[in-house]
Amino acid sequence: MCGIVGYVGEKQAYDILIKGLKRLEYRGYDSSGIAISGDEKDLKFYKRKGKVAKLEEFIGDRSTKGTIGIGHTRWATHGPANDENAHPHASGDGNLVLIHNGIIENYASLKKELEKRGHKFLSDTDTEVLIHLIEEVKKQENVSLFEAVRLSLTEVVGAYAIVVMDKNNPDELVLAKKSSPLVIGIGDNDFYVGSDATPIIEYTKNVVYLEDEEIAIISKKNGLKIKKLNNQDISPTIQELQMKLDVLEKGGYPHFMLKEIFEQPKTILDCMRGRVNAQKGFVSLGGIEDYATKILNANRIIIIACGTSWHAGLVGEYLIEDLARINVEVEYASEFRYRNPIINENDIVLAISQSGETADTLAAIKLAKSKGATILGICNVVGSTISRETHAGAYTHAGPEIGVASTKAFTAQVTVLSLLALSLAQKKGTIEKSKLNRLLFELESIPEKVAEVLKSDDLCKEIAAIYKDVNNALYLGRGYSFPVALEGALKLKEISYIHAEGYPAAEMKHGPIALIDEEMPVFVVATKGPSYEKVVSNIQEVKARKGKVISIVTKGDEDVKKAADHVIEIPHTEEQFAPILATIPFQLLSYHMAVMRECNVDQPRNLAKSVTVE
Ligand code: G6P
Repeated sequence: MCGIVGYVGEKQAYDILIKGLKRLEYRGYDSSGIAISGDEKDLKFYKRKGKVAKLEEFIGDRSTKGTIGIGHTRWATHGPANDENAHPHASGDGNLVLIHNGIIENYASLKKELEKRGHKFLSDTDTEVLIHLIEEVKKQENVSLFEAVRLSLTEVVGAYAIVVMDKNNPDELVLAKKSSPLVIGIGDNDFYVGSDATPIIEYTKNVVYLEDEEIAIISKKNGLKIKKLNNQDISPTIQELQMKLDVLEKGGYPHFMLKEIFEQPKTILDCMRGRVNAQKGFVSLGGIEDYATKILNANRIIIIACGTSWHAGLVGEYLIEDLARINVEVEYASEFRYRNPIINENDIVLAISQSGETADTLAAIKLAKSKGATILGICNVVGSTISRETHAGAYTHAGPEIGVASTKAFTAQVTVLSLLALSLAQKKGTIEKSKLNRLLFELESIPEKVAEVLKSDDLCKEIAAIYKDVNNALYLGRGYSFPVALEGALKLKEISYIHAEGYPAAEMKHGPIALIDEEMPVFVVATKGPSYEKVVSNIQEVKARKGKVISIVTKGDEDVKKAADHVIEIPHTEEQFAPILATIPFQLLSYHMAVMRECNVDQPRNLAKSVTVE
């Protein structure tokens, strides 16, 4: 979703802004722009539809001189992606410029009011209304830019992370946030701004995360000052970033997605580090330990998430109910919050989010919190808003995930959920010691088994070449493998734009079977487990209708091999951990099909990595 960068200091801002925008490309966007000023007080202001490379091309030899600037990548909400709607947006007199991530919900009424006062608008955006409002307040109240921003925001309904610059005061930037993230990097003699830490990490590790309804000013002369919108002073809390710069690079892989797929043996290991020791019969999630009794006595656990994280949540439901015998519901965050859910202080809400910034998940957390529920989180991004909003939680430790299609974050989420289910089962006594030991040893062996699954990459590529031109695909799985089917279908549609559906295998006969003909590839998870025979029958049903079957099977399987058109073998594992292994060939198949279709794998059209609007 929209990306924000900013700089104020002694260095030339242009390179910092462009590099920052490129680092933010992974969030997904459709246009970009920058504004730069300096001691000459001449504002340079460039914006373009398309990728950052298009913006650079447009800027060419034009002047970019200046030591203060802001940059933005836009993901369209109000108005199509074009040059006019790209950010920054300027005030009517052209002195003030603003970049914005979020949605100003009452922009239409504000716009009408401003139009009555003679303001003319050049774009369709809600953002342009905001900078005109700031201009109007500044003029009417005869106040500083900081005060004008503060007063204007008291009139605004909606979500925002904004940065404002005044060409006549090339010493300072004014920032504010509500429901959209904003980070300030503190350098030696300068300041950096980002909608996340990725554009900042190269320059400094010291950061301040702005909180909701905080407004900050960063100035070369006067440093950093933060206030609440109600004018109360806030003393900034400086945190140290743990992220390393090299993890933001592709490391020799053609795409971030492939790099992240291949990182999974390591990320799963990192995720388990210190949390499991099969030899000692130990399993624990330190961050959640204090809440264990509360969870064990809870009415139920409600898992809320979106997208791939929701699929991990489904696996979590199977794991926790199966092993710890606690009632679990899995909800789309966006549905949960708008259906007046019954929730109280005996409920545990477990939010799962890679980015920790998803607006719907965040809003659902706030709703559940207001009803007294205990909120736990599973997040990947350290220090993210969701990780700060929850009472306790566990990080997935998968490292930055840059490819828009989630891969390593999913397997890390499922790993954390496995650890949680096992630790709850142990505490509750719902698992026999021998079974617990077996599962713990098995979990410890998963990184190695993932490495083995990755050896199927060439085979996945061969299969991808056969099916890359199809228009539709069906994914089937049963039990623990049903969420894998959903995730497999999502991966394919996200990055290759092939229409794909995930279904519980047995549900096929209630609809999808009507679609099966010789054109239709059906991807089936048919690993050894309690429903193996039933899934083999489903494969027969597909074959009887001339569908093509690509099946993921347990190593050494003979039955499916006879029936299916292609099989991809994965090592034997306990059914509880099969989702981690079975999902990987689907990631590889989707990746190769998308590459062969010449799709932009890391930044698929219309999608965003961090969905900060509702
Ligand atoms: C977007 C991303 C998905 C992700 C979903 C939820 O749609 O493209 O990959 O699964 O948001 O994001 P979260 O950060 O909350 O896991």
